[in-house]
Amino acid sequence: MQRPIIPMEEYAARRRRLLDKLGKDSIAIVPSGSLKVRNRDAEYPFRQDSDFHYLTGFNEPEAVAVFAPGREQGEYVLFCREKNAKEERWTGLRAGTEGAKHWHGADDAHPIGDLNKLMPELLAGRDQVHYDLGVNSTFDQRMIQWVNHLRAMARAGVRAPHAIVMLDRILHEMRLFKSAAEIAVMRYAAQTSAHAHTRAMQACKPGRHEYEIEAELLHEFRLHGMEPAYTSIVGGGKNACILHYIENRAVLRDGDLLLIDAGAEHDCYASDITRTFPVSGKFSPEQRALYQVVLDAQQAAIAAAIPGNTWNHPHQAAVTVLAQGLLELGILSGTLDEVLAKPEVAEGEEPQEEAYRQFYMHKTGHWLGMDVHDVGDYKTSADDDGWRLLQPGMVLTVEPGLYIAEAEGVDPKWWNIGIRIEDDVLVTATGNEVLSRDVVKEVADIEALMGGGMTSPHP
Ligand code: GLY
Ligand code: MN
Ligand code: MN
Repeated sequence: MQRPIIPMEEYAARRRRLLDKLGKDSIAIVPSGSLKVRNRDAEYPFRQDSDFHYLTGFNEPEAVAVFAPGREQGEYVLFCREKNAKEERWTGLRAGTEGAKHWHGADDAHPIGDLNKLMPELLAGRDQVHYDLGVNSTFDQRMIQWVNHLRAMARAGVRAPHAIVMLDRILHEMRLFKSAAEIAVMRYAAQTSAHAHTRAMQACKPGRHEYEIEAELLHEFRLHGMEPAYTSIVGGGKNACILHYIENRAVLRDGDLLLIDAGAEHDCYASDITRTFPVSGKFSPEQRALYQVVLDAQQAAIAAAIPGNTWNHPHQAAVTVLAQGLLELGILSGTLDEVLAKPEVAEGEEPQEEAYRQFYMHKTGHWLGMDVHDVGDYKTSADDDGWRLLQPGMVLTVEPGLYIAEAEGVDPKWWNIGIRIEDDVLVTATGNEVLSRDVVKEVADIEALMGGGMTSPHP
């Protein structure tokens, strides 16, 4: 398969849109990500800041992008590391200021060391600075110093900015709607992750360790040049009831379920898939019954992830099916309305959660994009029902689950069953497309796959 990537022209088009939205009295400043020390001389692998990458496609640390609408010497200014043959021999090639212009489309480029010297000049005469305060405290301080420096020059006729505005209002709204190129990249990441899950199902058997199955996932990711979009969750038996279990150390036991939440990242776009299946390849009656409830809930939620519905519709659809299933299996008692509502409490008493939340304590999804929990508002107003409408180009996860830990009042036959099923869903003009559909999730299909019905991890 051709490896889709975001083309250079798309980065240029994003910058044009941002510049147009800013208007000539404003300026936007976006610092790059920085290298993080793991211990002593070892660093974590570098991952570019998503906002910076979205606008620049420039994959180096120690850089700052400035967007100055109408600036004669160039509207897109990139500050970056200079070329340095000695350092590049140790840590890899750098674009340098010439490369920033020639290869990366900057109109103007300067060494990162000139930031203090040039930034006041860039800020002078602009009313608003669009900058995300609170993300990088060192950079926040520098920003305040530059603005103060200009304020001190007011009597000399210098106009200092009078507002620092969060850039995310404009930028995260842009990031929420995926272009055709972004969708192609995300589809590819999701397909690769789906194949990795298939491979994991086929490799699983009692006696293997959770980390051995994790290795199968990572193998498939790296085989396609990808890395994990987040730390993989590989939890057998009761570990599946710990929502963020990442130890991945235990032995897998016959009779247990295995929950895997893992997704690859390609060209800085994430996928996020969860599958749950029996270690032995065959569901017990209790596991099958609960699994079917979660699968029905997921399918109801996916059916609700369509244009015209709001963000909360898939969640409501999932919760209704989960609650109904818990009632039918006798795990909860009462009526559907009762288990979905918050219990009434006397004045002065602590408010209580809805009954179903004992077994389903998270939301049914999140936006997906460059960040696994991607940016973008979920509500358009603060009202209880101010959820935003789903529109074509949005990508969200749909991931209901049931987690039944050992608990008083629950029949022990249900204990230590943790199930989540998660897919990546693109809202389209006519409905939706499940980007991660290449890995099975029906009971019969999982049992057939694990029973040796298929032999290749690439169906
Ligand atoms: N993998 C993180 C999540 O499902 O939200
Ligand atoms: Mn997930
Ligand atoms: Mn998720």
